[in-house]
Amino acid sequence: MTDKQGPDGAMWGGRFRERTDRAMQAFTRSVQFDKRFYRQDIAGSLAHAAMLRKIGVLTAGEFASIRRGLLAIRREIDDGRFEWKDELEDVHMNIESALTAREPAGAKLHTGRSRNDQVATDARLWLKEEVAADLAAIRQLQAVLVDFADRTQDVHIPGYTHLQRGQPVSMAHHLLAYVEMLERDHGRFTDTAKRADVLPLGSGALAGSTLPLDREFVRKELGFAAISHNSLDAVSDRDFMIEYGAAAALLAVHLSRLAEDLILWSSAEFGFVRIGDAFTTGSSLMPQKKNPDIAELVRGKTGRVTGNLVALLMLMKGLPLSYNRDLQEDKERLFDTADAVMGSLELMAAMLVATEAVPERCAAAVADPLLLATDAADGLVRQGIPFRHAHEIVGQAVARAEAAGVPLDQLGLEVWQEIDRRVRPEAVDCFDVRRALAARKMIGAPSPGRVRAEIGRWRKVLGLK
Ligand code: ARG
Repeated sequence: MTDKQGPDGAMWGGRFRERTDRAMQAFTRSVQFDKRFYRQDIAGSLAHAAMLRKIGVLTAGEFASIRRGLLAIRREIDDGRFEWKDELEDVHMNIESALTAREPAGAKLHTGRSRNDQVATDARLWLKEEVAADLAAIRQLQAVLVDFADRTQDVHIPGYTHLQRGQPVSMAHHLLAYVEMLERDHGRFTDTAKRADVLPLGSGALAGSTLPLDREFVRKELGFAAISHNSLDAVSDRDFMIEYGAAAALLAVHLSRLAEDLILWSSAEFGFVRIGDAFTTGSSLMPQKKNPDIAELVRGKTGRVTGNLVALLMLMKGLPLSYNRDLQEDKERLFDTADAVMGSLELMAAMLVATEAVPERCAAAVADPLLLATDAADGLVRQGIPFRHAHEIVGQAVARAEAAGVPLDQLGLEVWQEIDRRVRPEAVDCFDVRRALAARKMIGAPSPGRVRAEIGRWRKVLGLK
C-alpha cells in the first residue's frame, strides 16, 4: 500500500499501532480554527505542486489532476460544501486527505514539504492580506476623521490636561490629533507586512530537503518578496505575528483613547457631540438612556488585543529550536486580534460618520474666561514682564476674581493694577476666543489657518478631494 495510514486514518500513522486517544485528539486538533487558512493553504499547495512539476517530481498529468482536485476543494469550501474532519487534525491534512481521496496523485503533493513550513507559509500569506485590509481600514477612519474635522473648524472647545480645562482649541484640531496617531499606526502595519513577506516553504520540517526544490520558483508563484535563509528559524519564527500583535495593540490603544473622548463628549456633563441613534443603544430599564456602546466596546477590546500580544510573547519564550507544537496556539490569538482590530476600525468610522458636534454646548464650555489666563500672562510678557512674574500676577487675579465671584474677564483694570502697577490695559484685553486661537499660528498650533492647512495636507496624503 503506497498511501499507508495509521490505525485510525491519521496521515502520519505509519509507525503507529494503537489508535490515538479520543481526548488527545480533541485536545490537539486545530482544524476548528485553522480552516480559516484554507485559501492560503491551497495557494501554497498549488505553487508547491507547480514547482514539483518543474523539477520533474510530478508528471504533467499528475500536476493537472492535483490542480484540478485542489481547485474543486477550494470551491467546495467556498460554498460551505466541504466536510471537515476533526480526526484529520488541521486544515493541512483535511485538504491533502480530501485531495488524495479524489486524485491519487495527491499522495505526491507533500514531497519535500512539512506541515511546519506549510503552516508558516499559510500564516504569512494570510497576514499579508490581513494587513492590506487593515491599512485600508486605517485610511478610511482617517478620512472620516478629516471630514469631521472639516465640519468642526469653527467649533471651539476647551483643550484639556489632567481632564481640567486648559486652553481653547477647535474640535477639528482635537480630531486631527487622532489622524496623526493613525498615521503612525499605518507606518507600523506597513512595516509589519515587510517582515512577514518572506517565504518559509522549502525549509521542510526543520532542515530543508534532499530533493532539488526550486524555492525561487515558489517565491515568485506566491508573490513573496524574499526567501528565508535559515530553515530552523523559518519553521519556528513567529516574530511577524508578534510585530502584528504589537502594532495592533498600539492601534487599539489609540482607538480606545478616541473612544474615551467620544464617551465623555457624548455624556450630559460635556454634551459636545451627539452620536446617531443607529450607533447607540437604549437601556432595558431606564427609558431615557442612549448609550455609546460602540465606543465602549472599542475601548474594551483593547484589553483582549493587548492580552493576545502578551500571550504570543509568552508562547515564544523558552521554546527550543525549532518547531514545537506550542506554536499551534498562535493562531487563535492572531485571528482574535485581527477581528478585534478590523471590527473596531470599521465601527468607529461608521459611528463617526453619524456623529455631530453640538456647537451651543461647546460654545458654553469654551466661554470660560479662565481658559485665556495663559493669554493674559503672554500679554504681560509682551509688555516686558518676566514670565514667572506674569504667571504670579495672573494667578493672583484669578484668586481675586474667584473671591469676588466675578469672571476673570470682568475683573476691573484697577484690580489688576492693584496686584501689579505695571499691568497695561492692552495686556489684559485678551479675553476673546477667536483672537486667542488666531494668534496661535506656529506649526502644530490650532489657529484656524493652520488647521485649515492641516486638513488640506491630510486630504492630499489620503487622496481625498
Ligand atoms: N496544526 C499545526 C500548527 O498549527 C501544524 C503543524 C503541525 N506540525 C507538526 N509537526 N505536528 O502548528
